[in-house]
Formats: sequence, structure tokens, C-alpha cells
Amino acid sequence: MELDGAVVIVTGASSGIGAATARLAAGRGATVVLAARRVERIQSLVNELPGALAVPTDLRDPAQIVRLVDTTLHRFGRVDVLVNNAGQGLHVPLEQVRLDDLQAITELNVYAPLLAMQAVIPPMRRQGGGAIVNVSSMTSRMVLPGAGAYSATKSALNMLSQVARRELAPDGIVVSLVYPSVTATEFHQSLRAGARVGGGAGPVQPQPAKRVAEAIIDVIRSGAEESLLGQEGGWGR
Ligand SMILES: NC(=O)c1ccc[n+]([C@@H]2O[C@H](COP(=O)([O-])OP(=O)(O)OC[C@H]3O[C@@H](n4cnc5c(N)ncnc54)[C@H](OP(=O)(O)O)[C@@H]3O)[C@@H](O)[C@H]2O)c1
Repeated sequence: MELDGAVVIVTGASSGIGAATARLAAGRGATVVLAARRVERIQSLVNELPGALAVPTDLRDPAQIVRLVDTTLHRFGRVDVLVNNAGQGLHVPLEQVRLDDLQAITELNVYAPLLAMQAVIPPMRRQGGGAIVNVSSMTSRMVLPGAGAYSATKSALNMLSQVARRELAPDGIVVSLVYPSVTATEFHQSLRAGARVGGGAGPVQPQPAKRVAEAIIDVIRSGAEESLLGQEGGWGR
């Protein structure tokens, strides 16, 4: 899938990996649709990226996910790429996990990407294809004390994504997973509960959000099943 001329929905576009992905996609000629709750953030990114559209969206509300895709189709007539990037951590030992917190991150990290995939499948099928990238985490490929609940939501996302890839291949819809490790974003300041947990032998230098965004752009272009962004000495290596 080439990005030039493509209509690309990016969730969680108000900061970090999502904002970096929107900038890179727009730089390659895509029309980007920015979804997040912080209106002023996505609106200011629209001002930076000519032709972009901000659609204020709370992804924990299924109706707003449908509205996001409907608004995109109404405005641009098509949707070529969906980047399910929005997510939140819950970094406490399992003994302390509160079900309301687990429910909240499950709605955001699992239900929302599933519902967004379901919303874009019919138009992508009609168009003859599309690309979906689900942003997971290297924590889902390891056993990381203190991050069990969060990692469980990303593990669920991995399975949904892998099955979707096979189910949608006949329609020309390519589903991929990107697995970031520690990344320099607001993620660890906006955890649902808890604090960053270590996962390696020593301190890990967070990777720049742009590095993850480049991996997302690469899998959109290549159709690769997955991209792993493990770091030397830390998560995933
Ligand atoms: N940073 C890391 O170390 C790391 C490592 C592995 C995986 N990841 C994954 O990478 C993805 C992006 O995270 P990030 O690192 O870029 O973190 P971030 O800077 O905290 O960005 C999270 C994004 O999710 C959006 N979001 C949160 N709740 C939302 C809701 N209810 N509705 C709509 N949007 C919502 C936020 O926007 P609003 O608050 O404006 O709604 C924000 O744009 C996540 O899926 C995360 O799990 C991150």
C-alpha cells in the first residue's frame, strides 16, 4: 500500500506515536484523519498538516468509533488505512489490579481496535483492499512482573489481529502488528494506574516515537505481518 493519496485514520493522534505517525504519513502524501479526545491537540496538528481532518473521539464509546469512520467516508469517500494506535497502560502487580481499571484499558486496548476494524472492513472490502496496523507492545511477548494486566490486553489484541489478517486476506485487507518497546511519549505519565516497570538488565534508553512511526509506515507499505522494536539490554532483547 502506497501512502501517496491514501486516506489514513490514526487513533491516539494527539500525542506520542500517533502524532508522529500522522506527520510521517502526511509527509508521504496521505490524507490523515486524527482521532483522540484532546480536541486542541488534534486541531493544532491539523493546522500543521494541510488537508488533515480532526475527529474528536472517545474510543471507549463504540458509537463514536462508528462516527469516526462515517465522518471519514463522508468527507473523503474512502478509507485506505487504519492505524489502531491509542492505548493506555496499567502497571501494577496483579494483586492490586482493580477490575474497573482493567475494564477501562480493555475497552481502549482491545474493544476499540476490534470495533474500528469492524467499521472499516466493509468500505475497504468495497474498495478492493486496505491496510490495518494494530499497535501492540513488546510486553506482550515477555513475562513482565507489574505489567500483567496491560500485557494481557495487548496479547488479546495480538490474537485478534493475527486472526483478522488471515480472515481478511481474501478481501485484500492486510492486517499487521507493530510491537514498540519503551518509547519516549506521554505513555508512562498517563498510565491508568501504577508506574513504569523495568524489563531488562539495565536502564533502557526510550526509543523516539518517530522510530515507531517509521515502523508503522514500513508495515503499511510492505504488508509485513509484524514489526518488533525490542531494545538492546531492555524489553524484548
Ligand atoms: N510509550 C511506550 O513505552 C509504549 C510501549 C509499548 C507500546 N506502546 C503503545 O503505543 C501506543 C501509543 O502510545 P504512546 O506511547 O504514543 O502514548 P501516549 O503519548 O500516552 O498516547 C496515547 C494516545 O492514546 C489516546 N487515547 C487515550 N485514551 C483514549 C480514548 N479513550 N479515546 C481516544 N484516544 C485515547 C491519547 O489521546 P487523548 O488523551 O487525547 O484521548 C493519546 O493520543 C499505545 O497503544 C501503547 O500501548 C507504548
